[in-house]
Amino acid sequence: MRKAKIAVIGSSSMDLVVTSKKRPGAGETVLGESFKTVPGGKGANQAVAAARLGAEVHMIGCVGDDHYGEAILRNFKNNGVKTDHVEPVTGVESGTAHIILAEGDNSIVVVKGANDYITPSYIKKKAELIESCDLVMIQQEIPEETVAFVAELCQKVNVPLLLNPAPARPISQQVIDFATYMTPNEHEADVLFNGQSMAESLRMYPEKVFITEGAAGVRYFNGQEEVLIPSFKVEAIDTTGAGDTFNAAFGTAIAEGKTLADSITFGNRAASLSVTGFGAQGGMPTREEVERMLAE
Ligand code: RIB
Repeated sequence: MRKAKIAVIGSSSMDLVVTSKKRPGAGETVLGESFKTVPGGKGANQAVAAARLGAEVHMIGCVGDDHYGEAILRNFKNNGVKTDHVEPVTGVESGTAHIILAEGDNSIVVVKGANDYITPSYIKKKAELIESCDLVMIQQEIPEETVAFVAELCQKVNVPLLLNPAPARPISQQVIDFATYMTPNEHEADVLFNGQSMAESLRMYPEKVFITEGAAGVRYFNGQEEVLIPSFKVEAIDTTGAGDTFNAAFGTAIAEGKTLADSITFGNRAASLSVTGFGAQGGMPTREEVERMLAE
């Protein structure tokens, strides 16, 4: 099978993760249990996951000129992600995500840092690479105008675009029209489609909008009916990065020419394995692991 060639345009960050029994409320201080610094950022997570799943992945992004930036680049290289299009920004800090793991779920504050320098003019210089790819994956921890620019470019050069609209923000109709696939979770779908019912939104965009419902699975409209492809049950240690793993696996499978239903199953299996390790990338599986589990 030919390797899928994928460009990931998005954020690369350091995740500063605190575990605590209790999530502090406003004005409250609690004692936590542990602190760890691990690579993250939705773009980087999707790039690493797709590379572990066997795709040829080209990251397009920015890091700060600090030690986090160096560590982020090292991590890409260790995972086989190509970094020719990741540039350090002088005098700027790398993106960071401040994560509290408490009461079985995470809360995250993202500081974009160098990720804000991924501008339309930066992307313009990468057009040749983008045009040569089987698929482009993008998320929303980078400027809004960059997502709009990439959507228009992909449409022009006829390269499929997988837009993971996370974190949530309203998106123009033009970007929705230009995207080939969109993968909001339920909250993001609510923001995206202005509170319209999920059933209506899915019907409006057959085989384009795939709503990820966590442990329940992924729902879409196939032109005739709504389909829910269930996820796999596992004992979760850390759900951070599960959505990114789904997107990477779904995108890799689509770029390889698998059917939509098979691509979702592949994504669900990879995502379910990802939650069994600590940190966004800690549990991300290899191709062999996903295939072994699917064969069982
Ligand atoms: O999707 C998970 C990611 O979101 C984390 O790695 C963190 O960086 C946040 O941006």
